[in-house]
Amino acid sequence: MILITGGAGFIGGNFVHHWFERCARLGLPEEPVVVFDKLTYAGNPHTIGEHLQAGRATLVQADIADREAVRQALAPHRPRAILHFAAERHVDRSIHGPGEFIHTNMVGTFSLLEEARAYWNSLEGADKDGFRFLHVSTDEVYGSLSDTDPAFSETTPYAPNSPYSASKAGSDHLVRAYHHTYGFPTLTTNCSNNYGPYHFPEKLIPLMILNALDGKPLPVYGDGLNIRDWLYVRDHCEAICQVLEKGRLGETYNVGGINEIKNIDVVTTICRKLDALRPRADGQPYESLITYVKDRPGHDRRYAIDPTKIQSEIGWKPAETFESGINKTVQWFLDHTDWIDTVRSGAYRDWLDQNYAERA
Ligand code: NAD
Ligand code: TYD
Repeated sequence: MILITGGAGFIGGNFVHHWFERCARLGLPEEPVVVFDKLTYAGNPHTIGEHLQAGRATLVQADIADREAVRQALAPHRPRAILHFAAERHVDRSIHGPGEFIHTNMVGTFSLLEEARAYWNSLEGADKDGFRFLHVSTDEVYGSLSDTDPAFSETTPYAPNSPYSASKAGSDHLVRAYHHTYGFPTLTTNCSNNYGPYHFPEKLIPLMILNALDGKPLPVYGDGLNIRDWLYVRDHCEAICQVLEKGRLGETYNVGGINEIKNIDVVTTICRKLDALRPRADGQPYESLITYVKDRPGHDRRYAIDPTKIQSEIGWKPAETFESGINKTVQWFLDHTDWIDTVRSGAYRDWLDQNYAERA
C-alpha cells in the first residue's frame, strides 16, 4: 500500500480518485492507500468519502510534524511508498500568517523525513530497494519570470519570493539533502498551477466560479496581466504515478501544462462559460462583475514550466487542453453544490472578509 500525506486536500484527494481509477483502467490490483491528513480548513474527508466507505482508503487524522503519529501510521501499514502532498499552500494566507507555513512545510517535512528514513532503514531486501518517498512541490520555488525569460527548468536557480514558496523551497532542499547524505530514495516533482474538481474556493479559478454564481464581484489583483501555467489536476496526478514508477532516485521533475494564460483571460473565459451554461437572471454578462482590486504584495509576474525532462525521460504529457479542462471544471462546480456546501464554513467566510475587505 501507499501512504499519502494531505490526501484529503485538493490534489491529494484527486490523486486518491485517480489512483483507484488507474488501477482499474490498467488492470492492476487495487492497491489500498492510507491518507495521513491533519484536516486543516483545506482538508475535507468528503472529497474521498466513497473510497473511505469502501475500505480502499483509510484516514489517519494527524499532523506530519507529530513524529509519534507518523511512526504509529508507518509501523502497522508498512507502505511501499510515501507520497507527500501535505502543505500549507495559499500565497495570500502566507502573507497574513507565515507561521503555519514554516510549521507544516518545513518542520513537518523534516519530521516526516526523519520518521520515513527510520522506517526505510528498518526494511530489508526488495522492500528496502523498492521504497520511494515522492515529494510534491511547486514551480513557485523558482521565483518570477519576465515576459521574455525562458521557462523554469530543473536547473533554474531557486529564488522564492513569498513565505509560501520559501517554505516549499526549504522542504525541497531537505528532501534533496536526505537523498544526497543518507541515500534516502527520494523523488521530487515541481508543478505549475493546478485546477479542477475539489479545488478549495480561495484559489483563483474556483473563487471566480463561485463568486460569479453568487453575483459577487470578481476580484482581479493589480492589472490582471500576471501569467500562470495552468495544468488540469488529473494530468498532475498521472505525472506523479509515472514519476513514482519510472523516476530516477534523487531527481527532480518539472510538471507543467504549456498553458501560459494571463489572469484576466482566465477570468473572462470562466465568465463566458457561465454565460452559456448558467445565464444570469438579469441578462447581464458575468464579465460585468470583474473588479480590479489592490495587488498582492510581492506578486510574482509570470510562471512557466519547461517539461522537456519529464516528457523525454518519463514519457508523460498532459491529456487536457485549458479549453477541455476548464469546461470539465466549470461543469463540476455547477454539479457539486453538495461538496461546495461542505467547505463554505464560517472560517471560510472569515478568510474572504480578511483578504478582500482590505483590497477594496
Ligand atoms: P490543499 O491545501 O488543498 O491540501 C493540503 C492538505 O494537507 C489538506 O488536506 C490539509 O488538511 C493537509 N495538511 C495541511 N497541513 C498538514 C499537516 N501539518 N499535517 C498533515 N496534513 C496537513 O493543497 P493542494 O493544492 O492539494 O496542494 C498539495 C501539494 O501540491 C502541496 O504540497 C502544494 O505545495 C503542491 N502544489 C500545489 C499546486 C496547486 O496549484 N494547488 C501546484 C503545485 C504544487
Ligand atoms: P492563486 O490561485 O492564489 O495561485 P498562485 O498565487 O499560487 O499562483 O492565484 C493565481 C493568480 O490569480 C495569481 O496571479 C493571483 C491571482 N488572483 C487574483 O487576481 N484574484 C484572486 O482573488 C486570487 C485568489 C488570485
